[in-house]
Amino acid sequence: MKDRRWWKTAVVYQIYPRSFQDSNGDGIGDLQGIVSRLDYLKELGIDAIWLSPVCRSPQDDNGYDISDYQDIDPMFGTLKDMDELIAEAKKRGIRIILDLVLNHSSDEHRWFQEAKKSRDNPYHDYYVWRDGEEGTPPNDMRAAFGGSAWQWVPEVGQYYFHQFSVKQPDLNWENPKVRREIYDMILWWMARGVGGFRLDVIDQIAKEPDKKITGNGPRLHEFIRELSRETFQKGDLLTVGEAWGADTERAKLYSNPDGSEFSMVFQFEHMVLDQEEGKEKWDLAPLPFVKLKKTLAKWQNQLEGCGWNSLFWENHDLPRIVSRWGDDGEYRELSAKMLAVVLHGMQGTPFVYQGEELGMTNVRFPDITWYQDIESINLYRERTAAGYTSEEVMESIYAKGRDNARTPMQWDASENAGFTEAKPWIPVNPNYREINAASQIKDPSSVFSFYQNLISLRKTWPVFVDGDFSLLFPEDPQIFAYTRDDGDTRLLVCANFTGEKAAFHLPAGWEGAGRLIRNYEDAPEEGVLRPYEAFILAIPSHAGELEQNQ
Ligand code: GLC
Ligand code: CA
Repeated sequence: MKDRRWWKTAVVYQIYPRSFQDSNGDGIGDLQGIVSRLDYLKELGIDAIWLSPVCRSPQDDNGYDISDYQDIDPMFGTLKDMDELIAEAKKRGIRIILDLVLNHSSDEHRWFQEAKKSRDNPYHDYYVWRDGEEGTPPNDMRAAFGGSAWQWVPEVGQYYFHQFSVKQPDLNWENPKVRREIYDMILWWMARGVGGFRLDVIDQIAKEPDKKITGNGPRLHEFIRELSRETFQKGDLLTVGEAWGADTERAKLYSNPDGSEFSMVFQFEHMVLDQEEGKEKWDLAPLPFVKLKKTLAKWQNQLEGCGWNSLFWENHDLPRIVSRWGDDGEYRELSAKMLAVVLHGMQGTPFVYQGEELGMTNVRFPDITWYQDIESINLYRERTAAGYTSEEVMESIYAKGRDNARTPMQWDASENAGFTEAKPWIPVNPNYREINAASQIKDPSSVFSFYQNLISLRKTWPVFVDGDFSLLFPEDPQIFAYTRDDGDTRLLVCANFTGEKAAFHLPAGWEGAGRLIRNYEDAPEEGVLRPYEAFILAIPSHAGELEQNQ
């Protein structure tokens, strides 16, 4: 029998709450704003919403620094608003997935406030401390947002460890009391009716700083199995771990169908291809297209039957895909649709990031003072100090900065794109008069309608969920094509990933197949795929099905 957990057939929509919809005129998106837009999401056809963090936080890293895991930040609303959001979403068949930030807390969390008072405070051991002399940290480990990973606290005469900003001290997972506190907190959220969790940088919890180990520590899967057993397995949840360091072998553990860890993970092997090897994302390199195909195909094939993939191009940390690997100029709509076809045709649970369904693009603000993200601001400071020109650093930020994904959602052509009546916390992308939801919802040829169609195809055709995956023409420098087969129905997914025509002939046997979706309205051209052309064909076992579903 086929394993049909609800999250295998689901499509998830990610909301970055501060940029989605402001309801009270302070320029920051909030929970009531989300409630007011649920009908839009229902229309799109999604099944669950992953909310980036809304818990109480000093917002040093936009909420990924939590000071109270069991309260909502007043900027976003109250617990009552959260209960209302869960209930209103449920009425529309939508579940709410919360973002759990368990690798670190905020330095303003009560635990840390206690921990830094003295070495024998009961909370001291909730964090990772090492002795040392002021000015000589225990080792040379660096934090992800720049600077040393060690911060001196004179009161205790010790350093604490932080993989991210100084305001994000790492929690000590070696301490069973920390783990128990976390489980109780998760159970409390489960009782409130949430549909699942996304686990922030979960592969970094089992750190061993003395050995300079951050990701994939020796006790990682032991910790995750305990976490899963004590919490998630008591409910019917979608759980997805963020795991930059995951390879396919590890992903099979994380997404083991026996349910011992998570439902799935976000892996990033395909998302780090367009950077210089061994360097940082800021060190830009062209996308090696053949490698992209082979990487995605490897994940498809290796997890088949023994794990489960998540499918995504975007999130709040990544640039807009249409600007990154499509064309945000002349071919914006065609390439946005092409990218959607390639992703949604694969096996796994698709994630759509807010605005991706409109083909929203990257932004180029005039200079660094316009940027809000701690990562970009620190990068600018460090790299200009190291001798890079301002132009060089800005080019990196334009291509890869996280604020690309964080400009406000473009709802309509009114001032501030209908996101707020006040001054938004970050300016809207100036292209909102051309790219916005209001102009797309009623237009059957829009990017929005295209996503809507793709999502509904997944609901109608089980082969999208169950079919196995075979890559076609692996070495072709322009075409991304593959088949899916569930033993009953076969799909052919074809896409020209470039802005030039590509020589193309349908593989044998597909000549009479029916077309499920395509991004060009006029008939195909013989022997070629036009710029960014993409379509999906189907050969159903029962011929009648195709007509019904067309
Ligand atoms: C994850 C989040 C990112 C955050 C970091 C630290 O990568 O997605 O936004 O800055 O963890 O919590
Ligand atoms: Ca607000």
